[in-house]
Amino acid sequence: MSGRFITFEGIDGAGKSTHIEALAGWLRARGHGVVVTREPGGTPLAEQLRELVLHAPMDALCEALLVFAARRDHLQNVIEPALARGDTVLCDRFTDATFAYQGGGRGFDTAVLARLEQWVQQGRQPDLTLWFDLAPATAAARRGAARTPDRFEAQDEAFFDRVRAGYAARAAADPGRFARLQAAADPSAVWQQVQAAVEARPWW
Ligand code: TYD
Repeated sequence: MSGRFITFEGIDGAGKSTHIEALAGWLRARGHGVVVTREPGGTPLAEQLRELVLHAPMDALCEALLVFAARRDHLQNVIEPALARGDTVLCDRFTDATFAYQGGGRGFDTAVLARLEQWVQQGRQPDLTLWFDLAPATAAARRGAARTPDRFEAQDEAFFDRVRAGYAARAAADPGRFARLQAAADPSAVWQQVQAAVEARPWW
């Protein structure tokens, strides 16, 4: 039986990364094979493309083409084989991030993104998307000044308002796939929401 594909989304600073590891442990303890991966990235080629997207100056079309090129390699070499083995794939960001960041944040044409999505994914979509939603000001305070920001983290609050609206539009277009989590809550309360969203699915 094909495995399940679960993606983690939200603006930078939403706190999704810790919950990916927690969910991986929780699923493994229940006997599931689990692959944890991320986008852009997850293969040697896609990790090289990630470095470019996060640090090299370029326009929104270049960003979109590079993240979809990375996604193609990732799907072919990691995600599809894992799902075919019956593993659960937990992916830190996927195509909703492209609609949110390149579409919403950068204002790039979402009709073009939708064509790229069709070409690259051939119908593959996540079974569940956990959207860690919180206000951009709260996320910015969490990110703090701990490290040098990449090209996205360096954006202002208005950019993240548009990214958030991009996620909201994707969730409204496919409400059955999305679980919107209140990510401003403390970590244990967010984890409860993650667990509840996953357990509510009929597959386990
Ligand atoms: P992120 O997933 O937040 O990783 P980290 O926690 O290590 O910083 O960083 C990836 C960045 O890439 C994030 O700012 C969003 C951006 N991004 C896009 O702009 N488009 C995409 O399609 C994807 C997958 C990510």
